[in-house]
Amino acid sequence: MTPFTHFPPLSTPRMDLRQVFPSDAGAVFAFKSDPEVTSRYGQEPHAALSDTQGWIERLQTGYEQRENIAWGMALKGNPGLIGVCLFWNIDHASHCAELGYELHPSCSRQGLMTEALTAIIDFGFHELDLHRIEACPLAPNRPSWELLQKLGFTHEGRLRDRHFSQDQFIDMLYYSLLKDEWKS
Ligand SMILES: CC(C)(COP(=O)(O)OP(=O)(O)OC[C@H]1O[C@@H](n2cnc3c(N)ncnc32)[C@H](O)[C@@H]1OP(=O)(O)O)[C@@H](O)C(=O)NCCC(=O)NCCS
Repeated sequence: MTPFTHFPPLSTPRMDLRQVFPSDAGAVFAFKSDPEVTSRYGQEPHAALSDTQGWIERLQTGYEQRENIAWGMALKGNPGLIGVCLFWNIDHASHCAELGYELHPSCSRQGLMTEALTAIIDFGFHELDLHRIEACPLAPNRPSWELLQKLGFTHEGRLRDRHFSQDQFIDMLYYSLLKDEWKS
């Protein structure tokens, strides 16, 4: 499929969505090392730049294996990344993928993730041949599930105690969006 042989950059009114390169490690580390960001999805913050470099390498390997496709978010006129959004766990046979996203806190609540996700969801349904896009935020992550609801995702269920981090079990929520529900 073409998007996995030639990376598809996307453009939104305020951002360029482009491939994430090893040279982006410093900018990505700025939010992946922030516990306020990573605790929202139940992971430890990156402790060193090498953690982020490894993450970008794994992202690239997954892309080559058609398991994920990730866009770095850069404000127009400034190539530094402020966030990342992606499809991962791509199940080509079932035309399904999981949505992931994270943003530098200094850029939050400006509608930027809504703008980026609108572009990649549209791409997913129309160019990646997806039929279903799903997302699984932790229950306490209100910004994440409110964002999904704003985008039109349906709450499908609550997986009780599905995630364990910081010495506690946390419920996980299941959300999905089907192609014919998406108004591009
Ligand atoms: C979740 C996240 C991506 C939101 O990004 P954002 O650019 O601030 O989101 P937007 O400005 O587009 O907001 C869209 C909607 O999300 C909800 N939202 C965003 N931030 C919120 C907050 N702090 N509290 C409550 N709702 C919030 C609101 O419904 C908002 O719409 P509104 O501004 O019209 O009320 C960002 O907070 C983030 O990176 N969080 C940490 C990483 C993370 O949790 N990733 C998801 C893992 S499942």
